[in-house]
Amino acid sequence: MAGRRTLTIIKPDAFAAGKAGAIIAYLENSGFTIRAARVAHLSQAQAEAFYAVHRGRPFFASLTSFMTSGRCMPMVLERDDAVATLRTVIGATDPAEAAPGTVRKLYAVSKERNAIHASDSDENAVAEMGFFFAEMEVGVGGW
Ligand code: CMP
Repeated sequence: MAGRRTLTIIKPDAFAAGKAGAIIAYLENSGFTIRAARVAHLSQAQAEAFYAVHRGRPFFASLTSFMTSGRCMPMVLERDDAVATLRTVIGATDPAEAAPGTVRKLYAVSKERNAIHASDSDENAVAEMGFFFAEMEVGVGGW
């Protein structure tokens, strides 16, 4: 059965634009409960570690520079079928291709400055939740 928890990040573009509240309301209206949240400002080493799977891609330096450019908001979200549902409601990576009404269509600037991150599998969700939060912060049930 698909897991009930996933990791999202309101990225520096959306956070600096004052869209965190609107995005959180959108996610709660989509049936998600916030299990853990914090405001963070990633170092270059932390951004490179989080996006290590993209190391070597042409956009890696730009992506990690963007992700360290300001504060962001990592959160653990909970609902049934969390990973797939979150990826549906945030929309395609490129806002130009995102479905109408999705978070990225509403708030993203570009394929890189795309407002929000979401884990792409249950396995990666566990790893990404553990990157930002201690298990005790997430509470009963852990990961
Ligand atoms: P995210 O869901 O956080 O996962 C990896 C990120 O890399 C992605 O959102 C985008 O911000 C960024 N990204 C992916 N593909 C490209 C691309 N072709 N050009 C620039 N940035 C990209």
